[in-house]
Amino acid sequence: MPVVLGIESSCDETAVALVASDRRIVAQRVASQDEAHRPYGGVVPEIAARAHADRIAPMIAEVMDEAGLELRDLAAIAATAGPGLIGGVMVGLVSAKALAMAGNLPLIAINHLEGHALSPRLVDPELDFPYLLLLVSGGHCQILRCEGVGQYRRLATTIDDAVGEAFDKTAKILGIGFPGGPAVERLAHEGDAKAVPLPRPLVGGKEPHFSFAGLKSAVMRAHESGQYSTADIAASFQQAAIDCLTDRLDRAIANGGHAPALVVAGGVAANASVRAALEALAARHAMRFVAPPPRLCTDNAAMIAWAGCERLGQNDPLDFKARPRWPLDLEAEPARGAGVKA
Ligand code: KG4
Ligand code: ZN
Repeated sequence: MPVVLGIESSCDETAVALVASDRRIVAQRVASQDEAHRPYGGVVPEIAARAHADRIAPMIAEVMDEAGLELRDLAAIAATAGPGLIGGVMVGLVSAKALAMAGNLPLIAINHLEGHALSPRLVDPELDFPYLLLLVSGGHCQILRCEGVGQYRRLATTIDDAVGEAFDKTAKILGIGFPGGPAVERLAHEGDAKAVPLPRPLVGGKEPHFSFAGLKSAVMRAHESGQYSTADIAASFQQAAIDCLTDRLDRAIANGGHAPALVVAGGVAANASVRAALEALAARHAMRFVAPPPRLCTDNAAMIAWAGCERLGQNDPLDFKARPRWPLDLEAEPARGAGVKA
């Protein structure tokens, strides 16, 4: 069974994994850099790139040792080649190129977003194309129709912030720590989701696009008013964000996005309340619901190795350039109003 080594370094997780094309995760490591970035309340690109450079080679050696494999046993080396923080992407990609050259193996340059988009197929052998994907991470908030490997039609995107970014900023405003998503989710359990009146930007709009900047500003005003507990703000914010996600998905489905399955991927898909709301939505539309386990929702290398398995046969040139931007749907036009930040 062919085994692919996957490398991920586009943001603040250094990750390495070996995945077999029969969907077995042979070995994997994820090293979080949370401690290094916490004092700054966000990811510092230079610190991230240095941390990737320090850790990546020993982590690759570890997974190879654990699996008892040599370079010559591998079918290909797959690495995230973008989009992401360019210094980090270069560290992972250059490591992959060195291994590909040393082992005379194919290099497969992976779009990080495709890694997220295909991750549900790693855990669910029954998930066939086409499916409707909600991709919700720190940098992206999109609805895509996935029609095949490399074939993605974007139905919606955010005109300002990504939903994960809204979680992170809410955590920062409330002073509850970094990374923000899990901190908001924990605190939301103790709060009343109806306590704070917050807007649901673009809800009801004809196009299924998202907007979260106004929600973040409203969280700021609610916090500064001193009228509400942080738990009530966290719970009300999380509910508002979920209402936006479900309304926009309903719209995308009404506009022709229906598919046999609704799939969610990306860091925000680790949120249990988000998953529950999407599962209910899928049931309403008679769609099967597929969500990878939380550890495969946040950044990891198993999804990159798996995307490599899906692309076996491809061999990218060793001068493949790291890409800071790399949309999944090259034909999608910018959403109307995009770039307007509140
Ligand atoms: O996919 P990911 O790990 O990295 C990117 O490609 O961006 O997503 C990270 C994002 C962050 O904004 C983080 O706050 C959010 O996912 N996130 C969550 C949760 N876990 C991670 N948001 C809400 N609830 C969570 N449990
Ligand atoms: Zn990601």
